[in-house]
Amino acid sequence: MPAQPPSARPVQRILTGIKPSGTPHLGNYAGAIRPAVEASRSVDAESFYFLADYHALISTTDPVRVQRSTLEIAATWLAAGLDTERVWFYRQSDIPEIPELTWLLTCVAGKGLLNRAHAYKASVDKNLADGEDPDAGVNMGLFMYPVLMAADILMFKAHSVPVGRDQIQHIEMARDIAARFNHLYGEHFVLPEAAIDESVATLPGLDGRKMSKSYDNVIPCFAPPAELKKLIFSIVTDSRLPGEPKETEGSALFQLYQAFASAEETEAMRAAFAGGIAWGEAKQLLFERVDRAVAPMREKYEALIAQPALIEARLREGAEKARAIATPFLAELRHAVGLRRLDTAAEARVAAKPKAGALPQFKQYREADGRFYFKLVDGHGHPIVQSAGFESPKLAGQSIARLKQGEGELLASGELQLDGATVGTLAEGRDGDSYRAAIAELAAA
Ligand code: TRP
Repeated sequence: MPAQPPSARPVQRILTGIKPSGTPHLGNYAGAIRPAVEASRSVDAESFYFLADYHALISTTDPVRVQRSTLEIAATWLAAGLDTERVWFYRQSDIPEIPELTWLLTCVAGKGLLNRAHAYKASVDKNLADGEDPDAGVNMGLFMYPVLMAADILMFKAHSVPVGRDQIQHIEMARDIAARFNHLYGEHFVLPEAAIDESVATLPGLDGRKMSKSYDNVIPCFAPPAELKKLIFSIVTDSRLPGEPKETEGSALFQLYQAFASAEETEAMRAAFAGGIAWGEAKQLLFERVDRAVAPMREKYEALIAQPALIEARLREGAEKARAIATPFLAELRHAVGLRRLDTAAEARVAAKPKAGALPQFKQYREADGRFYFKLVDGHGHPIVQSAGFESPKLAGQSIARLKQGEGELLASGELQLDGATVGTLAEGRDGDSYRAAIAELAAA
């Protein structure tokens, strides 16, 4: 079978958020930024990458840090080659529809679901272990973190969400919340899936543990060469002497090298390890390899950081592009939950339409006085309007037809008129609302 042309394959929507907290490091680059930039070049993908600055507020109250970190992360992604023409690159807080959607989702998210979120539970467990109140020091932002994240994802109908393992539970919660909303209000959301790329290594830090700010073992992406060199020379190694064969397995130095080297370069390094390369020499090679990879980006990064207005403009363009999707979608969702204009009552009745057979109806009949009458009755057969007497069934029918068109005028006295002539009166206990509702239901049926 011939291969499908690209246009026939469904476009995958990929979305991920980057929390701006701190300066990006090589682990962020190799683990998230580089693969994301590569994925964004695929013709089958629409990529949404955004700075999750609302999320950053949960863990920091330092405004300068939030701003600085947002600038640095944005500059890093741009320096890494993200093509903002192709992708949706924006700042979460530029999309007011996101906090609004968060509320709609909050109202269908079970509290019990959120109680089970790992990050929240970890705080509670720690408090309990310390003999504190379970919720000591826990803000509602931390508790609501998964709902805000669900809004990020569901707003753009993302299929695939590349994240670290620690985020898988959040994607599952987004699915749960989306499914519940869809069940209640109709199929509005796409159920997202976490995408964990097994081939993307988690980079070790200076001490061999996972590179992470919380371990204070990171190598910043764009450290100046002298600092980069100093950090690389501080990577922990074993005490094998020059000339002694070295293990590649479990070597932080080797893993870092592999993350930046080609397959051939990696094999050459493996051979050098087996051949007893001195650690100092291996570190020098690692420094040269990493520096070669980051130098062009570092230059771009520095130029960008020096022009924050340029980054700001890019983010605003990105937000505009994203809102072109978010604004109409939120309007649809608002309507779905009943946040509607008040002059669309007919539509409201459609949604509230009783089961089949329970519609109101006009019933025509003849009385003993020889005249022709009708009644408007509700779904249970209880009268809403009793007509006056007509000369002929045809005249009664014409009045019914016009009332169905909404032409009837109801007076405060309960009299129903057409062209100023009374054609009926409200039945006892009925008001104008029940009449108008019945007419709207019939019009919609
Ligand atoms: N919680 C993610 C993290 O800490 C960041 C994030 C926020 C995110 N919203 C998102 C990731 C939506 C994926 C999709 O890494």
